[in-house]
Amino acid sequence: MKFYEAVDRRRTIRDFKNEEVDMETIKRILSAGLKAPSNDHMRNWEFVVTSDKNVISKIIKKIPKKITEKRLDFITKSWKDECQRKMYIDAIPKQYLMLYQAGCLILPFFKQKTSLLNPKSLSSLNSFASMWCCIENMFLAAAAERLACAFRIPMGDEAEYIKEIINYPGDYVMPCYLSIGYPADNAVINEQKEINADERIHFNQW
Ligand SMILES: Cc1cc2nc3c(=O)[nH]c(=O)nc-3n(C[C@H](O)[C@H](O)[C@H](O)COP(=O)(O)O)c2cc1C
Repeated sequence: MKFYEAVDRRRTIRDFKNEEVDMETIKRILSAGLKAPSNDHMRNWEFVVTSDKNVISKIIKKIPKKITEKRLDFITKSWKDECQRKMYIDAIPKQYLMLYQAGCLILPFFKQKTSLLNPKSLSSLNSFASMWCCIENMFLAAAAERLACAFRIPMGDEAEYIKEIINYPGDYVMPCYLSIGYPADNAVINEQKEINADERIHFNQW
């Protein structure tokens, strides 16, 4: 698949077939991630990969399985942009299932030497930024493989809980859960904001 086709194809899809993805494909996707730029030239990224539903259900145990209409309405009513609101209305109730049902769950980790939540300067966030370059490469690679992808940022005490389950080293941080799999036949692809580059370019001066 051509690069721009993969860029166009990459969309967050949260409805998966309950079907495993073969490990060679997952390795190609991870290898694409591991080619991303990194601030310190070290690509200090590690990945926990699992297709085992028992392991997955343990990892995602803290994520609410359901949300009431009332709560969803309360959360989403402050978003005035209809396109954005519709996306959240679709996304929020799917957080658990999108990670459970996908063929593969990947937990990426990056090495963080200083406190991520109390950065002293913008450069204290370089490892975090580099990790997201890696994740985007993986998203694009998954799109090129015609697979669907979704991710979730750990909320509340989810990351702490996962640390107990996975036992990852203290100087690593998990920025998100990442699910990769085959899209369900009726998978929702939310309307995306179409932004023309001409609207955002400021030639020579803002
Ligand atoms: C930093 C970041 C955090 C996100 N967190 C979540 C999340 O917790 N759960 C989720 O379902 N999607 C999450 N998303 C996906 C966005 O909702 C999605 O990228 C956005 O709606 C644009 O849609 P697209 O990816 O299909 O282009 C996140 C995306 C980014 C870049």
